[in-house]
Amino acid sequence: MTIDWDVLIEKASAVRRMAYAPYSDFLVGAALLDDQGVVHSGCNVENASYGLSVCAERHAVAAAVADGSRRFQALVVMTDVCPPGSPCGACRQVLTEFGDFPIMLVNPGGERVETSVGELLPMAFRPEDLG
Ligand code: THU
Repeated sequence: MTIDWDVLIEKASAVRRMAYAPYSDFLVGAALLDDQGVVHSGCNVENASYGLSVCAERHAVAAAVADGSRRFQALVVMTDVCPPGSPCGACRQVLTEFGDFPIMLVNPGGERVETSVGELLPMAFRPEDLG
C-alpha cells in the first residue's frame, strides 16, 4: 500500500502542538500508521521529575496498542530542528518490538529524511531473540 506521507505529517504536526514540554521546550509529534490505515498520535509529556518524561514515539505506540493495533506501516516524527530530530535509543528499541517499517523524520520547514526502524537500530534485540 502506498503511504500518504502528507497526511501523516499533518497529524504529527497537529499532535506536536499538544506536547507538554515546559522543561526542554522541545516539542515532538509522532503519527503512527497501522495496518488498517488508522493513525495513532503521540506527543512528548514531560514531568518536574525529569526522568519520568515520555517521548512522543512511545506515546504513539502505547496509544496504538491501547486501540488494539500492533502492526504498523509507517511512522512520522516531527521536531523543529534542522536536520529533523531522530528517535532516541529507548524509542528505537520500543519501535523494534513491532517490526521494521519506514520512518519519516520531518520539521515544519518541510525537510524530510526517510529511514526505517531497522536502519535506526541495526542488530537490535528482538522478541524472537528470547527463543
Ligand atoms: N523526545 C521525544 O519525544 N522523542 C525522542 O525520540 C527524543 C526526545 C522528547 C523527550 C523530551 O521531552 C524532549 O524531547 C527533550 O529531550
